[in-house]
Amino acid sequence: MPPTATVVARRRTTGLQGLGLVDGVSDDAWIAIARAEAAVDPDAAGRVSIVLLDFNPTPAMNDDGRDVDALTDFQRFLAPPARGAITDEVLAGERVFAEIGCATCHLPSLTTAANAVAALSRVTFHPYSDFLLHDMGALGDGIAQGQARPADMRTAPLWGLRAAGRLLHDGSANGIEQAILRHDGLMFLILYLTAQA
Ligand code: HEC
Repeated sequence: MPPTATVVARRRTTGLQGLGLVDGVSDDAWIAIARAEAAVDPDAAGRVSIVLLDFNPTPAMNDDGRDVDALTDFQRFLAPPARGAITDEVLAGERVFAEIGCATCHLPSLTTAANAVAALSRVTFHPYSDFLLHDMGALGDGIAQGQARPADMRTAPLWGLRAAGRLLHDGSANGIEQAILRHDGLMFLILYLTAQA
């Protein structure tokens, strides 16, 4: 680590599955989700991070675009992780998940906008994320970037969670229980621990 570093944060590689669907949700839909969250609870609400891609640092390295198109297609059509068996226990857990407020940020369902590609058009999918930035208090990585403030983190999608090893942006949580307990916020933990009891 260089001695001049002002922030040190570790990173777990994020999954790439299902992101063509996430990309297919309209900008207006994300803004509407953020507004709906703010109307319920301004402190916990997520914020949209708008990213403008108009900067090409090394135009000389551009190829004819075919590789980029092929890679983009591969990424866009990589299917989301499938759900496991839906047992009574799973359904009971899903109810608790919604009741204690997990589903506010880990949004169960999103729908893509109309798309020229049928596989991506008006598809409802289940990422368990709003993909918005939330103030996570002490769980934040301390890095400000674009519209993300130091305590802000993007809601991690929970699809495919059963195949994940270490959790959270820095891999600091060893298992789901540890990941949940690291969410910062008094009210949140009271609800979670009450549901456990
Ligand atoms: C205020 C929004 C918010 C609420 C409410 C919330 N989460 Fe999260 N959750 C996040 C964010 C943001 C992250 C990413 C944190 C990080 O990467 O360090 C996350 C990460 C996780 C992770 C780790 C996933 C991974 O791949 O690393 C799990 C598991 C999780 N949440 C479960 C829950 C459960 C269960 C509840 C309800 C008890 C809940 N969350 C409530 C915002 C929220």
